[in-house]
Amino acid sequence: MNPAISLPPGPRMPVLAQTVLSAIQPLEFAKDCRRKYGNLFTIKVFPVGTVVCAADPAVIRRAVTAESSTLLAGDANRVMDFVVGPRSVLLLDGPEHVRSRQVLLPPFRGPSVQRYQDTIAEVTADAVRRWPAGTPVSLLPRMQHVTLEIMMRVVFGITDLKRLAGLRALVPKLLHMNPAVVLFPLLRKDWGRYSPGGRFARVKAAVDEILYSEIARRRSEVDGERSDVLSLLLRMRHADGQPATDEDLRDNLVTVLAVGHETTATTLSWAFERLVRHPEALARLEGELADGQHEYLDAVINETLRVRPVVGDIARILAAPATIDGYRLPAGIMLALSLGLLHSCPRRYPEPEEFRPERFLGEAPGPELFLPFGGGPHRCLGAAFAMTTMRTVISTVLAHTRLRAAAPEPERQRAMGPVLTPARGAEVVLQRRKAFRTS
Ligand code: HEM
Repeated sequence: MNPAISLPPGPRMPVLAQTVLSAIQPLEFAKDCRRKYGNLFTIKVFPVGTVVCAADPAVIRRAVTAESSTLLAGDANRVMDFVVGPRSVLLLDGPEHVRSRQVLLPPFRGPSVQRYQDTIAEVTADAVRRWPAGTPVSLLPRMQHVTLEIMMRVVFGITDLKRLAGLRALVPKLLHMNPAVVLFPLLRKDWGRYSPGGRFARVKAAVDEILYSEIARRRSEVDGERSDVLSLLLRMRHADGQPATDEDLRDNLVTVLAVGHETTATTLSWAFERLVRHPEALARLEGELADGQHEYLDAVINETLRVRPVVGDIARILAAPATIDGYRLPAGIMLALSLGLLHSCPRRYPEPEEFRPERFLGEAPGPELFLPFGGGPHRCLGAAFAMTTMRTVISTVLAHTRLRAAAPEPERQRAMGPVLTPARGAEVVLQRRKAFRTS
């Protein structure tokens, strides 16, 4: 290796062991490395190779807000290419990325997403009506169903029952693919209908068929009244006056599904898992919601995002050699900015493992200490949408049910692909409130 290059210290165990630990206990492994090596350490994982992990708030802040031409997010997300497609905002950097965000962002801004609240509440209430009372139920699959339904109605604006049923069945297959297909590019090739790549290709083709025909139908409609995200995107223009192409729209609709639906569903599940084990927090939340107050609700959501992060790291690739904390890192290396470590720093969050929404009341931690949606040029495009969805789903569920834990033990964090989910799926027992009994 070039003698000028110096990497921070890190574990010496075999790559296989580091890969397994990163896959099944990413946060515990990262915390262990921080204890041993400090706020900057190097790990080696398959298939990426060498990864420099940063936990220091100043380093994370600088890296997240750096120009998108110096720290590349698109290259770091390249592994998603075969699902989201080459025009996805996830895979772009520099001027092309700015251009794409100019079109995509307006429908996801705060004022635009407020208008979706009623639909989100309706979808949630409709689902809650079907949940069985008096017996343990896992909220995770139910939250996945709710957030997918919200995406299909609010983002895609699909009301056709056949298309809805098609996407409802296909999307989980598209997103929950065999992990081997993600790790080994060769397996993504279509080697026949029973091969993993073949199965994936057929699901992707079926999803694309629905999305492209929906886009074509919408382009031919003259209904200027529709307010779903796809309809707004069809009216948007790039700075040079050009509209988004069908391929731009397809890739970004799949992106929004891939990064938005499961992150929101998992955070919601964790919020309920934490609340039922903290009855005083649950009672305070119910009381404030009944009085029309929302400050504590936001505190509960923020504390859930802090203590049970669904996005553990933000990944970037160095476009040129750079010096960080005295280490000279080479171009092309991956930098993992650890939100999990940033949000569990004991000096900034006393007793960091404890669930205490009160931390976020009054003077809340600033952006250098709390970045659940990232920041800078790649800040989460759906942050306002996710917050509106979580506020509305939690208040609707609590308005209609009383929840308690199905078992007293807290649920462990279990890695399911890139997200850390509650190991028993956030198991609760619900009781319907009187005003909401179904016949
Ligand atoms: C609790 C839910 C969510 C969390 C915690 C979350 C978190 C994040 C984080 C940390 C990033 C990376 C930022 C970076 O690289 O600097 C990101 C990116 C992104 N998120 Fe979210 N997200 C959530 C929900 C959503 C939703 C609902 C949508 C869409 C409706 C969405 C769309 C996106 C997109 C498109 C990007 C890429 C932005 C870009 O590269 O320019 N996310 N999100």
